[in-house]
Amino acid sequence: MIVAVIGAGKIGEAVARGIAHSGFASQVIVTKRNPSTLKSLRSPKVLITSDNREAAKRAGVIILAVKAGDAKGVLEEVAEFTEGKIVISMMAAISLRMLSESLPKAKLVRSMPNIAASIGEAITAYTPGKEVTRKDLATARSVLSTFGEHIEVPESLMNAVTALSGSGPAYIAVLIEAMVSAGLKVGIPRDIALKLATKTLTGTADMLSKNGVHPAELRDLVTTPAGTTIAGIYELEKGAVRTSIMNAVEAATQAAERVAKKFQDDE
Ligand SMILES: NC(=O)c1ccc[n+]([C@@H]2O[C@H](COP(=O)([O-])OP(=O)(O)OC[C@H]3O[C@@H](n4cnc5c(N)ncnc54)[C@H](OP(=O)(O)O)[C@@H]3O)[C@@H](O)[C@H]2O)c1
Repeated sequence: MIVAVIGAGKIGEAVARGIAHSGFASQVIVTKRNPSTLKSLRSPKVLITSDNREAAKRAGVIILAVKAGDAKGVLEEVAEFTEGKIVISMMAAISLRMLSESLPKAKLVRSMPNIAASIGEAITAYTPGKEVTRKDLATARSVLSTFGEHIEVPESLMNAVTALSGSGPAYIAVLIEAMVSAGLKVGIPRDIALKLATKTLTGTADMLSKNGVHPAELRDLVTTPAGTTIAGIYELEKGAVRTSIMNAVEAATQAAERVAKKFQDDE
């Protein structure tokens, strides 16, 4: 199977790398307007080009990873080569309905991965279009599995997913930065604080996701009466950390909704 990744920017390059390293594709064709910046992706299995039409023509699965603002031109370029093919869009704000107007004969899957795809650890939410068969869906899932885990969601949740897990790595990076600053404040050297903060985050996340521990249960495991943790949690709650995170995700969802509406209105 040949997979084309149209628009190898930050997310396109990350997913192309995962697909190329997996056994799924015989070849990955990666496109960009300026492909010279993709040298590190070059390998016998990866073809780098600026020719979207040729990439779409040769591929069995086409991934669209340009920004929404560049979608119109790219959709027009590839449309004639998409009949009966699986097209996975990773573009925020572009709905299945808008995609199907441009690519009426494609098997469409709308998706939202995150940048952890670059190390094979993405979580990708996806919604299949009505025309997608069980076999198509299995193929699409195999592609998504090459760069992480995936979960099906109704399309109505896509803006919220964009805000939670699409933007999520940035929130976590801010959190880690804050923990490193906190470590510095109490005398821990920067490199040690970074190691402590990142491993604490991944270890905690693994306990929650792999052992099925509830977050509140985990918090209670660490929080002893009159101990150090409750002193820290007290300050976190005073700083309204939960409200801040909920507000952040809600604001990002509204931002995604505004962009989606702008594209609908411009149609
Ligand atoms: N970044 C993330 O973490 C993330 C996560 C999930 C979803 N997304 C979605 O993925 C899409 C891309 O985001 P991004 O952050 O990866 O943006 P980006 O880094 O700007 O990448 C977009 C790429 O598309 C290429 N491109 C633009 N027009 C093209 C054309 N006509 N033909 C071929 N390539 C073209 C650009 O190439 P040139 O540089 O050569 O112009 C650029 O490398 C967005 O819709 C975003 O919402 C991003």
